[in-house]
This record gives sequence, C-alpha cells and structure tokens, in this order.
Amino acid sequence: MVLPLEGIKVIDFTGVQAGPACTQMLAWYGADVLKVERPGVGDVTRHQLQDIPNLDALYFTMLNSNKKSMELDTKTAEGKKILEQLIRGADVLVENFAPGALDRMGFTWERIQELNPRLVFGSVKGFSEESPYADLKVYENVAQCAGGAASTTGFWDGPPTISAAALGDSNTGMHLLIGILTALLHREKTGKGQKVAVSMQDAVLNLCRVKLRDQERLEHVGYLEEYPQYPKTPFGDAVPRGGNAGGGGQPGWVLKCKGWESDPNAYIYFTIQEQNWPRTAEAIGHPEWAKDPAYATARARQPHIFDIFAEIERWLADKTKHEAVEILRKYEVPCAPVLSMKEIAYDPALRASGSIVEVDQEKRGKYLTVGSPVKFSSFKPDITGAPLLGEHTDEVLAGLGYGADAIARLHKDKVV
Ligand code: COA
Repeated sequence: MVLPLEGIKVIDFTGVQAGPACTQMLAWYGADVLKVERPGVGDVTRHQLQDIPNLDALYFTMLNSNKKSMELDTKTAEGKKILEQLIRGADVLVENFAPGALDRMGFTWERIQELNPRLVFGSVKGFSEESPYADLKVYENVAQCAGGAASTTGFWDGPPTISAAALGDSNTGMHLLIGILTALLHREKTGKGQKVAVSMQDAVLNLCRVKLRDQERLEHVGYLEEYPQYPKTPFGDAVPRGGNAGGGGQPGWVLKCKGWESDPNAYIYFTIQEQNWPRTAEAIGHPEWAKDPAYATARARQPHIFDIFAEIERWLADKTKHEAVEILRKYEVPCAPVLSMKEIAYDPALRASGSIVEVDQEKRGKYLTVGSPVKFSSFKPDITGAPLLGEHTDEVLAGLGYGADAIARLHKDKVV
C-alpha cells in the first residue's frame, strides 16, 4: 500500500519533544525521516528518565518511531559537507535547536535556500522572532506559563498551574506539522519551499483562545458568570483560574463518585447541557427541577450551581464512576469517567482503534505507545520501533556515494 507521504524525504534535526513529535507523525504517514544526531550522544531523551539501564528511554522511543538515525557532527567541515548533501536531496528539514544554534553552525535560512530552494524548513522556538524573549531556551512548562495556560489553570486559591498535557511541546509539533504539510502543498503550486516557524508560546496561546475570549468579555462586562467565582467573589482585571469549570456555554464540574475517599480517580465530569436540562434533572432524581423557576434556566441555576453539583454528588455517592456514566448516558448527559493512565493503558477500545499500540523495539522488546490519533479511511499507520543511535549512518553515507574506506575514515575521525 502506498502511504500518503511516501517519497517525502525529511531531515529530522530535532530533539526532546516538540520537533520529534512532528517528524514522528510525518514518518507514520510514510515520509522517509532521517534523524541526525550528535555522534556518541544523540537526542538527550535517549538517556533521560531511563527505566532500563543502558537502553534508549521510553521518552525517546515514544517520540521517534518509524525513523532512521544517523550520527553526524555537523560542526566539523566534513560533517557540514554531508549535511549540505542531505539538504540538497531533501524535501523537508525540521529543527528545534536553541535560538541561533543552526545559524552558528552555518545553516542560516538564506544558506538553506541557496542549497535547496524547494526545501520546506520547519523550525520551533520558544518565542517568535518579534518577542522580547526570542533569545530564551524554552521547555514545556515555560511555554505554558508564557502562553496563557498556567495563569488560567488551577484553583483560585492556588498558584498558576501546569497542565499535564504537552501543550508546549507535542502541541507545537502538531502545529508545525500542519505548517509543513501546507508548505508542501504550496510548493506544488509555486515550485518553491519556504520557512515554517512555530513558537511554543503561540501554539499554547492558540489552544487558550477561549481564555482570550474571556479576557475581552471580562473587560466588557466586569464578571464572568460561568466561572466558579461568580457571583460571590469580585473579579480582578484578568481572567482568573477557573478550576474545573466548563469554559464553554455549558457549566460542568468534576464530581465525586463512590470510593473517592481511597481512589484518586473515582470521579466523573458532569456537564449540564442547557437543552437537555429536563432529562438531566430526571436522571439525577429531581424531575421537579425542570419546571421550578429557581432551576429551570441556566441563568436561574448559575448563582447556586455549586449547590446543584453538591446535590448531584449526593446522587452519585452510592454509584461508581462507571455505573454513574451507564445511567447518565441513557439521559444523554455529556459526561465521562475520570480515567487513570492505568485504565487508559489497558483500555481495549483504545487498543482496537490503534490509539494505543504495542510496539516491538530492538533490544527493549514490547512496549506501549500512542498511535495515530487521526484515523484515515484508506490506510492505518503501522507504528514500528525507534532507531538505535546511528543505526543507519553507513547506509545513508553509502547512499550519498561514500565508499567503505571513506566511511571507515569518517568513523575514525568521529565525524559520524
Ligand atoms: N553536531 C554537532 N553539534 C550539534 C549537533 C550535531 N549533530 N546537534 C546539536 N548540536 C549542538 C548545537 O549546535 C548547539 O551548539 P551551540 O550551542 O554551541 O551552538 C548544542 O548542540 C546544543 O543545542 P540545543 O540542543 O539547542 O541546546 P540545549 O540542549 O542547551 O537546549 C532546548 C535545549 C530544548 C532548551 C533548546 O534547544 C530550545 O530552546 N529549543 C527551542 C524550543 C524547543 O524546541 N524546546 C523544547 C521543546 S520539547
């Protein structure tokens, strides 16, 4: 079967998570992705958070499947020459080095264009070029703080809080992926490549757009009635942390179920959908609330919404989260159990859909990783193992025309 990106050659000059997440997806969808790594060192994630001594960490394998790996010291004259050859033959180059690192290596955008005008050059930085923080090195949590996620996440009596979801890292990689695929389509029209830049701050902000919406509403109205602070606590001049509030037009909250005292995940998320209120009231044992003026409309409920949630928790007290959802789904209440990572890892439906896959990794054996969250009707990505450091160095050099002696010398001189 021909995969959609077959024939697209990608130089993967990335590390940690943001860049590798992008190039991994290109590889899943058929691109020929070559990870270029520092000889003897490789991507730092090979060694970070190792669970088995002297084996590539899951941190690495889960972000670099379906790729090839080449060791290459791109700071040596010969290493630069080899990288130039690779660039001439590639469709895409992706990097997420610290600001200025690629320029210092001699590979400015101008130089890259000179080498290959058709190349699409994808670049991740913490901040955009216009930012006063453009020179900063940035990791996930820094981006979440700078992109508006941290100041709006958490509870009102606690500090700004980091989300567990990789809003700064993998999310930026996904944005870059959209940009690269767009630029490849553009190239079909113009014949030219282009630079595609995504900052982690911007990618986080793009997912925090509802909070920017709320900032503007706050400035117009002075309060945000769907936030838990309403109506008892005065609002300041910035969007506050909203706890587990819905964020959309339908209020919701995380509610305790049977067993919450000992199980940290014995909760459901319960949404009160305006158009489904009569059935919701019936589901939780209060059909009379459908017509009661104190409960009948969203506006009437909002001032005492936490009393309503408390009453729903009383209804939930003798039901497990799964039993509760079984009942509520019959009444079309938008809800879900809070699932632990353990439950997710062993969820048969996620395995069946390919959202979690078991991969056979050289030396390690079988391990679980996320599969493609995007499902296609004409193909199913086959997730394979991640490459060992330098596994494909000789193969790539031979493809570039280097003979056995030349390859041996490059190894001896530690260029590869
Ligand atoms: N051969 C020779 N040198 C190489 C090389 C290779 N194959 N690959 C990398 N290097 C060099 C770089 O040129 C750089 O050298 P320099 O600083 O002397 O110019 C050096 O290795 C380290 O580069 P880098 O990985 O960028 O720096 P770091 O480890 O100190 O910082 C980050 C890591 C992630 C903080 C930084 O890369 C960054 O801010 N990136 C942009 C945002 C980002 O993607 N963050 C991570 C999200 S998961």
